[in-house]
Amino acid sequence: DWTPKHIIEKSVADIRAQVGDARVLAAVSGGVDSSVAAALVHRAIGGQLCALFVDNGLLRQGELESVQVALNEHMDGSLNVLDASQDFLSALSGVTEPEAKRRAIGETFIRKFESFARQQENIDFLMQGTIYPDVIESRAPERSAAQVIKSHHNVGGLPKDMHFALVEPLRYLFKDEVRRIGAALGLPDELIWRQPFPGPGLAVRCLGEVTAERLATLRAADAIFTSELRAAELLEQPGGSDTGIAQAFVALLPVKSVGVMGDQRTYQETAVLRAVSSQDFMTADWVRLPYELLARVSSRIVNEVKGVNRVVYDLTSKPPATIEWE
Ligand code: XMP
Repeated sequence: DWTPKHIIEKSVADIRAQVGDARVLAAVSGGVDSSVAAALVHRAIGGQLCALFVDNGLLRQGELESVQVALNEHMDGSLNVLDASQDFLSALSGVTEPEAKRRAIGETFIRKFESFARQQENIDFLMQGTIYPDVIESRAPERSAAQVIKSHHNVGGLPKDMHFALVEPLRYLFKDEVRRIGAALGLPDELIWRQPFPGPGLAVRCLGEVTAERLATLRAADAIFTSELRAAELLEQPGGSDTGIAQAFVALLPVKSVGVMGDQRTYQETAVLRAVSSQDFMTADWVRLPYELLARVSSRIVNEVKGVNRVVYDLTSKPPATIEWE
């Protein structure tokens, strides 16, 4: 019968049988699936796992550090972190169209991943954090190009011409099972209950051109919103719920408006707060956040974050809007 302990024992045996003495390369994103998969593979083959985290410079405040701490603990400090933020910023320079951003990021990721992989020896396998819903989705009838609303880029988008055999320890598991296995492997709650974060990261929340300066503004505003939600105990509640927050973030709009600060005229950009409840992220409703909390977040952002003089709240459900703004 299904117990995390039983599944872990079986996966460990399967992975050892599949891999033998070879090494397994894994790209990890800090998301639940790739983290649990990597922890499982590490449990099975230890140092034969070669895990890579590509820092694209599009992460939220403190995210790299928290992923590093959580994963290193489960890999005896062997997580490789590649700082590629400059490459991603260059690739995004002058790019404003959402799908063009996703393409630039996807291509840069593949190039970085490939060059890292080429420096490694004895790698025959590639780990993927594929879970059962991904398997079903990829079998769904091809959607026409016009129906693709957003081309999702995440660590699944790897070089097609690289000939590795795949190790996919989560292939037959649903998300709640993946979480239970993660917990049984001792991964921290914070990681197991992390909100989904898009592969292209803050680039698709920084509308208009992505620059280091605008990213810093967005990161600071997002950190304020997140920390206020957390202080109000509205974020990352194990178990999730229908009405709670499934995802909450700030997007930075390239819309300047006039404001006044002291006796000075300001002319700065707009931060939009987004908080949605959702079961499956296919549909979502905006969360009726308390006015007091919205007031506090708004005044903190305008007072503490350079470059923003106006804060708005997104009252749109999905459909017709999407959760992200790009
Ligand atoms: P939308 O904005 O389409 O998002 O309502 C639905 C869910 O998918 C996430 N999302 C992405 N995840 N790469 C990803 O890995 C992407 O390009 C991407 N775009 C959106 C979004 O955060 C939400 O959870």
